[in-house]
Amino acid sequence: MQSHRNHGGALAGVFVLLLPVLFPSLFTSHASPSIFSEWNAPKPMHLRLLNSALQQQDSQGKQSDPWTPLPDEGWKPCLDCSNSPSLPTNSQGYLQVFLDGGLNQQRMGICDAVAVAKILNATLVIPYFEVNLVWQDSSSFGDIFDVDHFIDVLKDDISIVKELPEDFSWSTRRYYATRIRATRIKNAPVHASANWYQENVSPILESYGIAAIAPFSHRLAFDNLPMDIQRLRCKVNFKALSFVPHIRALGDALISRLRYPPGQSEALGSNYLREVTDVVDRQGPGKFVVLHLRFDKDMAAHSACDFGGGKAEELALAKYRQVMWQGRVLNSKFTDEELRNQGRCPLTPEEIGLLLAALGFDSNTRLYLASHKVYGGEARLSTLRKLFPLMEDKKSLASAEEKAQIKGKASLLAAVDYYVGMHSDIFISASPGNMHNAMVGHRTIKNLKTIRPNMALLGQLFLNNSMGWSEFQQAVVEGHQNRQGQIRIRNPEQSIYTYPAPDCMCRG
Ligand SMILES: *[C@@H]1O[C@H](CO)[C@@H](O)[C@H](O)[C@H]1NC(C)=O
Ligand SMILES: *[C@@H]1O[C@H](CO)[C@@H](O)[C@H](O)[C@H]1NC(C)=O
Repeated sequence: MQSHRNHGGALAGVFVLLLPVLFPSLFTSHASPSIFSEWNAPKPMHLRLLNSALQQQDSQGKQSDPWTPLPDEGWKPCLDCSNSPSLPTNSQGYLQVFLDGGLNQQRMGICDAVAVAKILNATLVIPYFEVNLVWQDSSSFGDIFDVDHFIDVLKDDISIVKELPEDFSWSTRRYYATRIRATRIKNAPVHASANWYQENVSPILESYGIAAIAPFSHRLAFDNLPMDIQRLRCKVNFKALSFVPHIRALGDALISRLRYPPGQSEALGSNYLREVTDVVDRQGPGKFVVLHLRFDKDMAAHSACDFGGGKAEELALAKYRQVMWQGRVLNSKFTDEELRNQGRCPLTPEEIGLLLAALGFDSNTRLYLASHKVYGGEARLSTLRKLFPLMEDKKSLASAEEKAQIKGKASLLAAVDYYVGMHSDIFISASPGNMHNAMVGHRTIKNLKTIRPNMALLGQLFLNNSMGWSEFQQAVVEGHQNRQGQIRIRNPEQSIYTYPAPDCMCRG
């Protein structure tokens, strides 16, 4: 049962994907608090630490500056292939992939699809995005990513087409949904080798001129591939994938509002730009932290930890587990204390706030919350907001018109958060998962500071009721010195998208 507690892990993902199918009515009930009566405002769980944090924030005796950028360790991205680029002269046929999962999982799938097309000398069809059942988003590749840029950046590596030619137009998602078809590869093993593709997919390309692979997520190994293929995967991820112009424009607008808050120039009116320029002249752009917070009910229930909402919350989460997973995710055999000690509890907004305060971020810190839906809503966030009153998110920063462009589109919302996250001075994620991993990898390429919370350490510290603020702070600072985004060399089986060194980065 242990693996069931692995948040963001494959197994959890499978359950999550099934949920709306099995329990459509329950899924919409997130919004209707009457069904579960757990909405007693969650109380701060670490009141003593919190009070000290609030006091010391006012009288910040500056220790080390948490904003200091990472030192340059001499690593640079190496995204271009060592040989002169080599477009295969004859395409072996068309390669189609159907990608499921959320935005960041699809992103990895696109990179792998380019690599597989290269391995097979095939022409890649712009990947098809499955409608995501959890997020209910039907955005296509072209709704999210700039297709022309994608094709252009990769033009010397592989051929890519936006659509299949007339002769193959029968090869659609619908065609494969109804029956077993000879051109669909359904059994690609997880982390398949280049050889597997050559042996199993090349013959299909040869016979039919087309091959469609689904499922395709996580279907290409991270090890034992030629360096050119690894670099090509990184080139896709870090260079060829660019969001559509309206997402980038919205991201840029939010970033500029974070860097030049209207408080400094009073109004967002027509004088805004001129005033902003004045502010820049005077004090330069402000810095900001992006906090990725995945704290939805699903995750809270899955972890089986205590989040301070008392008996009502405990019962509500137990009930949710029962209904959603029908015993497949057992009520904990560990106590809350044991779970915390093992670092298995997602950090609450309050705990992330204490972590940031201990690391030296004061109450003037501008915090951007990258988050979908927080279980417990504003009440759950109130402690964090007390520590960081300058907390913003998409909703608070965007105009009504801007919000309308992305409303209800989970993938576009995630894309905006990704874009803002990539442009932040500091990124921190409260829980491991796809977004966290994608951001860690992408920021590594740019040597940007990315704090990885030490869950096990924090679990233990938060359990210790006799610990004072200064001891807490010292332990937190020490325990995070090497968790700020410094280069970590990839180990076998780890993802090149999370650990781009050494495959896609060179030294010196
Ligand atoms: C792809 O093309 C290269 C030369 O361009 C060739 O050496 C290789 O065998 C081809 N691979 C496949 C699977 O067709
Ligand atoms: C709790 O913290 C205090 C003060 O730092 C320390 O002396 C004590 O050993 C800690 N207790 C546990 C159980 O770790």
